[in-house]
Amino acid sequence: MKPERHVFICMNQRPEGHPKGSCQSAGAGGVLEAFYGEMEKRGAFGKVMVTGTFCMGPCMDGPTVVVYPEGVWYGKVKPEDVGEIFDSHLEKGAPVDRLRLA
Ligand code: FES
Repeated sequence: MKPERHVFICMNQRPEGHPKGSCQSAGAGGVLEAFYGEMEKRGAFGKVMVTGTFCMGPCMDGPTVVVYPEGVWYGKVKPEDVGEIFDSHLEKGAPVDRLRLA
């Protein structure tokens, strides 16, 4: 089955103190868990697909999340933002502007 939306979450880890930082050290693991928790709660498997990735570029603004087919980039995403991303973007197609990367 083809999902309606595909969420990519950067799970890259760099050593502590690395000048670029990394999404893992900024809390990406908790964000991935929150996505899976919402998928479970909302029965969204099949409609939404979530994939962990390596570095996607904007490391200093991590955790980085990208949603397709719109190609919307989110930065500094926290586990507590995930419910809003589901409510607004993944279910209604309206990206969450306050989390969008410029
Ligand atoms: S480490 Fe996540 S975007 Fe680079």
